[in-house]
Amino acid sequence: MYKAGVLTISDKGSQGQRVDVSGDYLVKAFRNMDMEVALYQVVADEEDIISRTLAAWADSGNVDLIVTTGGTGISPRDVTPEATLKVIEKELTGIVEIMRADGYKKTPTAILSRAVAGIRGGCLIVNLPGNPKAVQEYLDLLLPIVPHAVETMQGRAGDHT
Ligand code: MTE
Repeated sequence: MYKAGVLTISDKGSQGQRVDVSGDYLVKAFRNMDMEVALYQVVADEEDIISRTLAAWADSGNVDLIVTTGGTGISPRDVTPEATLKVIEKELTGIVEIMRADGYKKTPTAILSRAVAGIRGGCLIVNLPGNPKAVQEYLDLLLPIVPHAVETMQGRAGDHT
C-alpha cells in the first residue's frame, strides 16, 4: 500500500478562512485508491515553511508521494514552485508538461500554473494548482504513473523486459 502526504498551500486556508476543498478531494481520492494518507496539513504561502515541510515529510520515510495544491500561479504570494525546487533532487518535467498541455485544451489559463514535480530520496513530490477542478483532472493523469515511479525511485523495479 502506497503512502501519500497532502500539503495544501493557502494563506486563507491556514488561517481557517477557507474550506480546503482541494485537499479534501485529494485525501478522499487517495483513500479510494487504497492508499494511506499518512500526512495532511494546510500551510501559508511561505517559501520556508513549504520547503521545510516538504523536506521533513520526504525524509521521514512515512510517505512515497507528496501532492501539494495551491500557490503555483503568478500572484505575488505564489511560491510553491520555488519552495519545491529547493528540496527536490531530480526534476520530473514530463509530469507537469503533460498536465499543462492537457489542461490547456479545456482551460487556457492552465499554462499560468508554474507547478513542478520531482523526487527527493524515495519520495515523489508533485505540485498541483489550487483549483479543485484542476486537482481532479490532474490527479487522473498522475495516478497511473505512481506505482512505476515509486518502485523505480525506491530501487524496487525490475529490469526492462
Ligand atoms: N488548470 C486547470 N486544469 N484548471 C484550472 O482552472 N487554473 C489556472 C492554473 N491551472 C486552472 C489550471 C490558474 S487560473 C492559475 S492562476 C494557476 O493554475 C495557478 O493556480 P494556483 O496559484 O492556485 O496554484
